[in-house]
Amino acid sequence: MQDKTTRAGTAPIIKRDVVSRIAPGVVVAGVGVSNAEPVRGAELTARSRLEQLFDPGTFMEIDAGVTHRGRDFGMDGKVIPGDGVICGFGEINGRTVYAYAQDRAVLGGSLGEAHAHKITKILDLAGSAGKPVVCINDSGGARIQEGVEALCGYGEIFRRNVKYSGVIPQISLLMGPCAGGAVYSPALTDFVVMVHKKSYMFVTGPKVVKAVNHEDVDTETLGGGQMHATRSGVAHFLAASEIDGLEIARKLLTYLPSNNMESPPFVAPDPERDPPWRLCKRLELIVPEARQKPYDVRDVIAEVFDRESFLEVRARFAQSVSVGFARLGGFPVGIIANNPAILAGVLDIDASRKAARFVRTCNAFGLPIISLIDVPGFLPGREQEHNGIIDHGAKLCYAYCEATVPKLSVILRKAYGGAYIVMSSKHVGGDFNFSWPTAEIAVMGAAGAVEILFSKDLAKHPDPLARAVELTDEYNAKFCNPGVGQARGYLDAVIQPADTRKVLCQSLRAIADKREELPYKRNGNVPL
Ligand code: HXC
Repeated sequence: MQDKTTRAGTAPIIKRDVVSRIAPGVVVAGVGVSNAEPVRGAELTARSRLEQLFDPGTFMEIDAGVTHRGRDFGMDGKVIPGDGVICGFGEINGRTVYAYAQDRAVLGGSLGEAHAHKITKILDLAGSAGKPVVCINDSGGARIQEGVEALCGYGEIFRRNVKYSGVIPQISLLMGPCAGGAVYSPALTDFVVMVHKKSYMFVTGPKVVKAVNHEDVDTETLGGGQMHATRSGVAHFLAASEIDGLEIARKLLTYLPSNNMESPPFVAPDPERDPPWRLCKRLELIVPEARQKPYDVRDVIAEVFDRESFLEVRARFAQSVSVGFARLGGFPVGIIANNPAILAGVLDIDASRKAARFVRTCNAFGLPIISLIDVPGFLPGREQEHNGIIDHGAKLCYAYCEATVPKLSVILRKAYGGAYIVMSSKHVGGDFNFSWPTAEIAVMGAAGAVEILFSKDLAKHPDPLARAVELTDEYNAKFCNPGVGQARGYLDAVIQPADTRKVLCQSLRAIADKREELPYKRNGNVPL
């Protein structure tokens, strides 16, 4: 991949504008003719975004001459070649990728019949060719002047987003204020990249919110990148700039196959600096033995996986679990790792949703799933129950049970209760399950267990505190080690922390060609 600074340069890149793609002799009236500069608030024009996305000189446009057929609200007087969206294909790191970029300078990037038809053509071409598609959204949604023609256009796009979901990678970049269908289509794709203080996503914008709810809310609060990256979780990546967002899309594709029938791209690690058998001696320093002490699991990831290969997904959302792509001995993998640095690594509603979705993404594109487990369980409490932790936790269980890609896991310290079961255990189809020597597998922590089992006995005991300590020690001795799991074969091996990379690399090679078929069904019924 090229260096970001050389691709981007220092000044904003303004290369061509919509004028340059207007065919000679075509009448253009009223719109789209003054776009020599990026529109208000944007860094790049629609065309320069595409030029920045693709390897230099490889983008080829199609359908530049398509025009709309609108006749109402003054549209009959306007001829707009291209109808506000630039479509085509090119190369990213030498691999073919299809793309479109909506042009906010033309009727707010709104989507009419012809505009939609161009997009569905690109999606169909990408789907049938088995190539990824990058969708650059910058649109106020359905073109108000075209009525039902615009709405049906979105329906056609959604149907294709779903048809090709799990077939080709679909990456959505949000590059301006986007509303209506311009946010639903991204939500149906694999990844959503937003740009800080530049892009906004809402089903209805602030003006409509004001009209309907009489509520004053600014665009940033309603649907800014910060909100979607931290609260709603809609944004998988929050880029610092448009160029940064385009680089994220390029980088993301380096982990993904072009389609679900291809293998993910292998990138050999440096054999001197980063051999697969490299010992990870720092792990014992990173992970404290005391099971309540926090540490950041991303330090473990950095140590175990190929150097600098981790690309975290939804990094600012539901941070008690960290998910993302990395390479292990050169093979792209997906990582699901409880993060004890945040809420002790507990699985709450958002963490379950985030992890479940990522498991499904990896499974769709054939990336082995590596789970690093240190989890106290699912988060108890009224708020979680009322908001449906049962269904959301079940989503995670469903995703692991359904995944047929190789599934490897390492219990670093503890795996309690339902979280032990759902997170890649042997019982939900884990292929290789390892633990460090200090790992604990139990229904719950010792204090809670003693309280539930012995509260009546303790109340009657002459020295309840001493007895509670005794019982806690007994519980710890029984469960706070990997002995039973190993004896039953639920753990394939107990490994030294320093051997984690070597063991995972070896086992990944051993299971890489795994084949598993599920029974035929129209669709499974994933919990809501
Ligand atoms: C036609 C539109 C448009 C639209 C914006 N424009 N949205 N034209 N159809 N949907 C035009 C404006 O008239 C204006 O034209 C130019 O784009 C810029 O718009 P502004 O409002 O000045 O820009 P800004 O203040 O940045 O606000 C951007 C915005 C706002 C937040 C996106 O324009 C907005 O709320 N638009 C409507 C959003 C919406 O409700 N869309 C329909 C959704 S229904 P001029 O000529 O003045 O420059 C839908 C159906 C599918 O999409 C739903 C699936 C679930």
